[in-house]
Amino acid sequence: MKTRAAILREVGAAWNVEEIELDDPQAGEILVKTLAAGMCHSDEHAHDGTMPAPMPLIGGHEGAGEVIGLGPGVTEFEIGDHISCSFIPSCGKCTWCARGQQNLCDLGAKLMDPGMIDGTFRHRDADGNDLTPLLKLGTFAEHMVLSVDSAIKIQNDIPPGPAALVSCGVTTGYGSAVYRAEVTAGDTVIIVGCGGLGTAAIQGAKIAGAKNVVAVDPSEFKRESAMEFGATHSAASIDEAMEMVGAMTEGVMADSTILTPGTLTGDFIAPAQFITRKGGTIVATAVAPVEQMDVTMNLFMFSMMNQELKGCLFGSSSPRKEIPHLLSMYQAGQLKLDEMITNTYTLDQVNEGYQDMLDNKNIRGVITFD
Ligand SMILES: NC(=O)c1ccc[n+]([C@@H]2O[C@H](COP(=O)([O-])OP(=O)(O)OC[C@H]3O[C@@H](n4cnc5c(N)ncnc54)[C@H](O)[C@@H]3O)[C@@H](O)[C@H]2O)c1
Ligand SMILES: [Zn+2]
Ligand SMILES: [Zn+2]
Repeated sequence: MKTRAAILREVGAAWNVEEIELDDPQAGEILVKTLAAGMCHSDEHAHDGTMPAPMPLIGGHEGAGEVIGLGPGVTEFEIGDHISCSFIPSCGKCTWCARGQQNLCDLGAKLMDPGMIDGTFRHRDADGNDLTPLLKLGTFAEHMVLSVDSAIKIQNDIPPGPAALVSCGVTTGYGSAVYRAEVTAGDTVIIVGCGGLGTAAIQGAKIAGAKNVVAVDPSEFKRESAMEFGATHSAASIDEAMEMVGAMTEGVMADSTILTPGTLTGDFIAPAQFITRKGGTIVATAVAPVEQMDVTMNLFMFSMMNQELKGCLFGSSSPRKEIPHLLSMYQAGQLKLDEMITNTYTLDQVNEGYQDMLDNKNIRGVITFD
């Protein structure tokens, strides 16, 4: 069938919305009509070259839609089911899935390879060139063919925007606080970078019972918005927050610091270490340039203060458990998702949406479809 998709042909080029040819879903795949797509910073990392991705590619890895076609033998879904995509596929059979760590599913190793998970292609441009859907999803398209391993069935009455946000940003940010930092009642937590992920981390810290949630962001709009999502204090930089955190903890400093800036670099770690207490935890969630090897930290202090530095993929959570769980919290009014959608865009406005993200106008921008 023919559909339309936002395509990136080289690093730094504009997203180009084009008509493409989409093959029928194969065994283990479904055809989905896209209803909403979230604009995560990671697509920008494919665009700016921080995270090398196979080109030409169809952007987007946050999305929700309706199942309109089934590949041969697919029994997991029915026509008309609504789904949220998961940027981490979960096979359910590998060691990691069996351990309840689906964010580490072995299929993840193939996420940055060309084509679908099996290496073949379903998407072609008008000249017949193969296209790779980003992270095997490609949600910046009116229709998607994707693996059942990348789709989570959700309740049909959940609005598409919130259903899209839990594909990546919200689940990753929330889990960074709740599962990776293991925030508990009375904690002091620092969230560095208060965009989509950071805002979800703030909500996670608040829900887990943190006493102080300090939002750090150079953008005034993000600092103000952070207070509406549960932050108790804000600062423009970690250095600026240092004295305040010292005062609020009687010199103990923060229980955990969560790093969700637009791009992670090695110079975030030492300040994060200084604002975190002995025995405290630093969670590194943001994407760093792929070749970044240099990290500045005080190694003596790191061991002598018994600190922890943890990586974090998909909030250290399992998509099949966490996506429905967070949506049920949204339905119960515990998790604010509608409020995170600052602006909506048409597919043709994808470049504008990313410029707005870079200009700090959005907590999350969302592409909506008819
Ligand atoms: N680990 C994962 O599984 C995973 C998943 C999704 C996204 N990510 C990554 O997480 C990061 C955040 O994504 P997002 O969509 O929330 O981005 P975003 O653009 O919505 O938000 C980033 C925020 O960081 C702020 N910022 C920039 N420099 C800063 C600094 N020096 N100190 C404090 N704040 C600063 C910006 O003002 C902005 O508010 C990105 O690197 C993204 O690629 C990681
Ligand atoms: Zn993402
Ligand atoms: Zn698996």
